[in-house]
Amino acid sequence: MDSTIPKILFVDAEQHILKSLQQLLQGEGWDCHFLSNAQDALDYLQNQPVDLVISDTKLADMDGIQLISEVRKCYPSIVRMFLTDSAKQDNIVTTLAEGNVQQIIPKPWIDQELKEIIRSALRQSSQQKKHSTEFQILINSIPLLPSLPESYSNVRSCIIGDQVNIEKMANYISQDVAISSALLHWANSALFGQRFQVDTIKKAIIVLGTDIVENLILSESVNRTIAGMLPAIKGFDFGQFKKHSMVTAVLSRLLLKSLLPTDFIQHDRAFIAGLLHDMGKLAAASFFPVQFEQAIELAKKRRIPLSEAEVEIYGTQHAELGSFLAEWWALPPFIVNAICWHHQPHSTPIDQDVIAATHVANLLSYKFNYGSNGDPYLRGISDEYREKFYLTEEANEILRAKTEQTIQALAC
Ligand SMILES: [Fe+2]
Ligand SMILES: [Fe+2]
Repeated sequence: MDSTIPKILFVDAEQHILKSLQQLLQGEGWDCHFLSNAQDALDYLQNQPVDLVISDTKLADMDGIQLISEVRKCYPSIVRMFLTDSAKQDNIVTTLAEGNVQQIIPKPWIDQELKEIIRSALRQSSQQKKHSTEFQILINSIPLLPSLPESYSNVRSCIIGDQVNIEKMANYISQDVAISSALLHWANSALFGQRFQVDTIKKAIIVLGTDIVENLILSESVNRTIAGMLPAIKGFDFGQFKKHSMVTAVLSRLLLKSLLPTDFIQHDRAFIAGLLHDMGKLAAASFFPVQFEQAIELAKKRRIPLSEAEVEIYGTQHAELGSFLAEWWALPPFIVNAICWHHQPHSTPIDQDVIAATHVANLLSYKFNYGSNGDPYLRGISDEYREKFYLTEEANEILRAKTEQTIQALAC
């Protein structure tokens, strides 16, 4: 059997349901197996590798919730879902909140929707296999990853190949007052070298470039979506987090500019990487707030970087989590790499300058006191990077002044 073919196990007490599923899914290129009771399913899993288990909640020989709990305990890296007509029952909703299943699909299902959910789950399963078992267990304890924010997808849809429909893009952006105003502020800031007044979204897109616009929108949409559902976490302030991301973006761009003055593409990339570098912290804060708070506490107590404390508490850290999310959203590889390696720039041979700029900008933003975002203690900048970016005391002061000027212009 080809090990790259996704394997799905369906468990349902009703034969006609299993038959319908079989008919629906044949020809999809998946290896599907259909069983009608829980014990057979557990026996099957002992002998066969499976990527996804989809079970009803009512089975003849065992409660479906119990079956799924067993699967989670014995095979935590398998993605788990319910397909049930009891989707709204309290105990089933609770089992989703407890991380036993990642999705509950109501019966009767809609064929195309069901296929889409399965496709998405299999993509997540295949992506997470590149990571450690601890990471897979962690990811499988949260609901299926969210899709890209709609505002970002809309803006992306205006770019086909090398062609950009600026008119259409400006129309989409104009529908959102907060994003429009943020873009105008950035376009008028000295950071992007603007000497004349930018007063329309169309001009802002031209001044900033579509890459920057896209990613400012992505960051704003992710912040907005997650801010609404963030519980209170001791030691993590969302406002400070946003400021830290913004300042890291500004510094990262300034640093790369000093290193490669005429490489404009890299300047933009450094800005984007700085803006998104800590996206994994937002994911950790919203997906597993209790453990995230414990990691912050531990970092504080031991005076170690948060990333090290996170590894002790939940086996991975925000950089890996953020890069996983960026890859899930199919963001460009330089963003995935910068997020992944912003604490360990030496660990990868690619996108070295952008990653180094993001790394140093992150440390400088702490040094300049912009954003206590859950990381109570960070190590200093190494001599190698001080030399690379010519970071004398005088240069630091100039960077600090330019950053202050930019964020004041942005009124943040
Ligand atoms: Fe970080
Ligand atoms: Fe950071």
